[in-house]
Amino acid sequence: MTAVPKVNGIPTGWQAEMLAILGGPVSRRLARWGKVIEQILAFEPELQKESDRDLKKRSLSLRYRAKSGEPLAKIVPEGYALVREASVRTIKQRHYEVQMIGGISLFNGCIAEMETGEGKTLTASLPLYIHALVGKGAHLATVNDYLAERDANLMRPIYDLLGLSVGVVLTKDTSKERREAYGCDITYGTAKEFGFDFLRDRLLLRRMGVTQAGLFGEITAAALDPGGEQPVQRGAHFVLVDEADSILIDEARTPLIIGSIGDKAIEKIVATYRWSAEVAPQFVDDEHYEYDHDDKKVELTASGRQMVRLMPKPTTLANMGLVDLYQYIERAIRVHRDYHLDRQYVVKPGDKGTDEIVIVDENTGRLAEGRKWRDGIHQAVEAKEKIEVTVPTGQAARITVQDLFLRYKYLAGMTGTASSASREFRKVYHKVVIPVPTNRPAQRRRLPDLVFGTADEKWHAIVQEIRDMHQEGRPVLIGTRSIDKSIILARLLNLAGIEHKVLNAHEVEKEAEIVAQAGQPGRVVVATNMAGRGTDIKLGPGVAETGGLHVICTELHDSARIDRQLMGRCGRQGDPGTVRQYMSLDDDVIRTGFGPESAEKLEALGKSNSAAAQGYANYLKRAQRKVERRHLRDRFVLLYHEKERKKMQREMGQDPYLDTPD
Ligand SMILES: Nc1ncnc2c1ncn2[C@@H]1O[C@H](COP(=O)(O)OP(=O)(O)OP(=O)(O)O)[C@@H](O)[C@H]1O
Ligand SMILES: [Mg+2]
Repeated sequence: MTAVPKVNGIPTGWQAEMLAILGGPVSRRLARWGKVIEQILAFEPELQKESDRDLKKRSLSLRYRAKSGEPLAKIVPEGYALVREASVRTIKQRHYEVQMIGGISLFNGCIAEMETGEGKTLTASLPLYIHALVGKGAHLATVNDYLAERDANLMRPIYDLLGLSVGVVLTKDTSKERREAYGCDITYGTAKEFGFDFLRDRLLLRRMGVTQAGLFGEITAAALDPGGEQPVQRGAHFVLVDEADSILIDEARTPLIIGSIGDKAIEKIVATYRWSAEVAPQFVDDEHYEYDHDDKKVELTASGRQMVRLMPKPTTLANMGLVDLYQYIERAIRVHRDYHLDRQYVVKPGDKGTDEIVIVDENTGRLAEGRKWRDGIHQAVEAKEKIEVTVPTGQAARITVQDLFLRYKYLAGMTGTASSASREFRKVYHKVVIPVPTNRPAQRRRLPDLVFGTADEKWHAIVQEIRDMHQEGRPVLIGTRSIDKSIILARLLNLAGIEHKVLNAHEVEKEAEIVAQAGQPGRVVVATNMAGRGTDIKLGPGVAETGGLHVICTELHDSARIDRQLMGRCGRQGDPGTVRQYMSLDDDVIRTGFGPESAEKLEALGKSNSAAAQGYANYLKRAQRKVERRHLRDRFVLLYHEKERKKMQREMGQDPYLDTPD
């Protein structure tokens, strides 16, 4: 038997034998997988002697075995050894043993928790390869187009050598390009595109099967499927979700929805309402239009119509039909004449906190909450009041993130931060979280948290710390909760004369490059927490000696996982690095967690007695946990309602993903 190298935290020898039987759920698995590692290693000397062509042949014979129904678990040792050898030859990276463990856990449908920088991209190649052999497609879902494309390109040489094709689905792609990408053995893309393609296919399939002409009208067909009339996906076989906590949990509070009219169409409709409301007052009674007092109807005269034609219009309205335009104007004039604020309606904040039109009941004078005028009147009034115009989208198809991924026959996920969500992974996705040991011991050091009375004091302390680190030549990465806070900090850094870069997740690609450089000596980068997620930060020359990258978390996020994600930007691959969490008593998390009253009390305390602030660190963390719990509850409520809705629709013989009421 080959000698097994000692892997951090992975038991070997007699220890492994014992744990495989007696250990807890995680250690039992790890011990079992330790044995698979031995089998993989046993293939290595043999494979090293073979030519590239021999490797490809071997791969094709594995594919043959997989297609003829041999259990994939039997193919794993040779398959993983092949992928490793192909990787060594092409991209010069030999999968670490811990990456093998990660790969095996993913093959077994677990959520692998691998720290940031441990090489999840390379690890993913293992289960993707094995599942792709069956020929039903293997998908990798990630958070943005940039990462999808980057990872596909990084791994492509490996798959090429082994005779498998790789495709990427990007937001900009046409149906034809999508179909080709899904037709590949392995497909990289974002969870969102996978979801919307599923929904679009679903709508298309129905249109092809049962012609329900007129149900959605002409625009629908064109807007939803500008390419050929064919589904783009092949089915849901295996999906590996990168940044699994972000996709499967944080984003899972709202379902993916396709309206039967496209976004572009809605944009145009809203623009037309707004423009009509704006110009309506210029039309004069009896000159530009006639008003029928009985029917309360407005009709443009010839000169009114001419006026509509000659008026300058926003470019979005360029190809709007004239007849439609006359109608919009007539409606807007009627609203301008007959619908008055605080008589027919009031404007007040609704459930979502944004202003809404609430109708005043003509008879009782009471507010008729939730009621809406028809025939576009309601939207015209909204446009007149310059609030959000609520165009009914004729909701056509929807799916929750949970359903989308549970549709796959095989599902696995990986992320740097999963443990704290392990209960949810288990309950919702029936998945076990496996913490995979790091390749080299982590050297990240967390400096003591600092709490300040007010945000002002906090920002000044942060700038001071940045200045200190900067003078030592250490790079600093600062994470903020929002763009406006990045701007506050940037202004202070300018005043202090510290050169820096600000990123706010607007231009993912360019920002990824800047984040990648964030480990160079003396760099200062300010970024919202999501900016640059998944980007590798390599330390510049001499930086490790001065202590590595320093990460500053300026405030608690709504979820502790997201804080940890930011902290994980330093100390990658056993690099040295430090992290510090800053807080202040007027942080948003208090308000979201404990409500306005507590927030105001604490804010007042912070102003009067900043010395006491440090003692409130745990209080702030409690507020964060409260928010986390609320979001968790929201997700479970959504799940419950979706389940009930699906049940009802099945009973009524409807497709649960289409025809959704509301
Ligand atoms: N086996 C290996 N040999 C050499 N280098 C490796 C190996 N595995 C990963 N790396 C390198 O480690 C770095 C980090 O990899 P990667 O970006 O995949 O990490 P990650 O786990 O996805 O991190 P994040 O959580 O930030 O997304 C990359 O530069 C990659 O090339
Ligand atoms: Mg990654």
